[in-house]
Amino acid sequence: MATLARQDINTDRNLALELVRVTEAGALAASRWMGRGRKNEADGAAVEAMRRAFDTVAIDGTVVIGEGEMDEAPMLYIGERLGCGGPAMDIAVDPVEGTSIVAKGAANAMAMVALAEAGNFLHAPDIYMEKIAVGGGLPAGVVDLDASPAENLRNLARAKNRDVADLVVCIMDRDRHAALIAQCREAGARIMLIGDGDVAGVMATAQPESGVDLFLGSGGAPEGVLAAAALRCVGGQMQGRLLFEDAAQIERARTMGVSDPKRKYDVAEMAKGDVMFAASGITTGPMLRGVRRFGTGAITHSVVMRSKSGTVRFIEAHHNFSTKTWVQD
Ligand code: FBP
Repeated sequence: MATLARQDINTDRNLALELVRVTEAGALAASRWMGRGRKNEADGAAVEAMRRAFDTVAIDGTVVIGEGEMDEAPMLYIGERLGCGGPAMDIAVDPVEGTSIVAKGAANAMAMVALAEAGNFLHAPDIYMEKIAVGGGLPAGVVDLDASPAENLRNLARAKNRDVADLVVCIMDRDRHAALIAQCREAGARIMLIGDGDVAGVMATAQPESGVDLFLGSGGAPEGVLAAAALRCVGGQMQGRLLFEDAAQIERARTMGVSDPKRKYDVAEMAKGDVMFAASGITTGPMLRGVRRFGTGAITHSVVMRSKSGTVRFIEAHHNFSTKTWVQD
């Protein structure tokens, strides 16, 4: 028994490092498109590279959060089987979180992937999700999707022993958030508006040095699941609720296992069990440096974490293009 347990631990650890190889591949490939105004090409390059990198990962994986349905995505589509054999696992993957960021050469685009045992990730359709998140070490239920921004800010300020004016709320800069932004300002909080990349916005709540206390607003539901996976590893609270536009979306979600369209999911309902999460910077942001290319090679900066151990490991890798020829394609 003891030997088996030790084997499991090693398998987990090795898998976590294998995941980084996958996100490094995505970041390296996407980085060639930085600032070139072609977000689809950046995404396509990362998809292809990550798809290839998955071939050697020892899992029997199924993509549950990916690039879309089989008919709209040639690779990393929902339901695609990946890996070279091993434990049955759910895969949530976003080859480029922030395609517009890469196209503009702006800050904080990442390649990311999360793994959990099969059946443990919410199978979220590609629609919007209402989200709220705070970092770790706070009383359970300190914020709630159904409370007003003012109430959430008051409760959070009390829990952090601060004034609302000391809190910073991260919100995506979108017209649909005009009322939310106005309510946060009215309540007296400060706001950090971000252009894209709400997984990083959610993760920022769990990084004290980011200065972000609360994430609010709607963004992609698949990104919601990835953010939940990351928060499961570092600690933090998050709630998400799918935002349906019509009956067809509700029906589609039902076929994916969503029986209650109004359900409020907490972080552990979106990403259950033992979760692993890895991300590599494509462009530089507060958490990860972007890919630095220098002709004969490149340096990548990645983070990998596991909910089981709570360890957050940063990895700087020096890649040699004379042996990694595909990066130059
Ligand atoms: P892409 O990388 O797919 O372009 O997504 C970027 C992103 O900003 C996500 O982080 C976020 O969840 C979503 O887009 C928000 O969607 P929208 O741009 O429609 O508000």
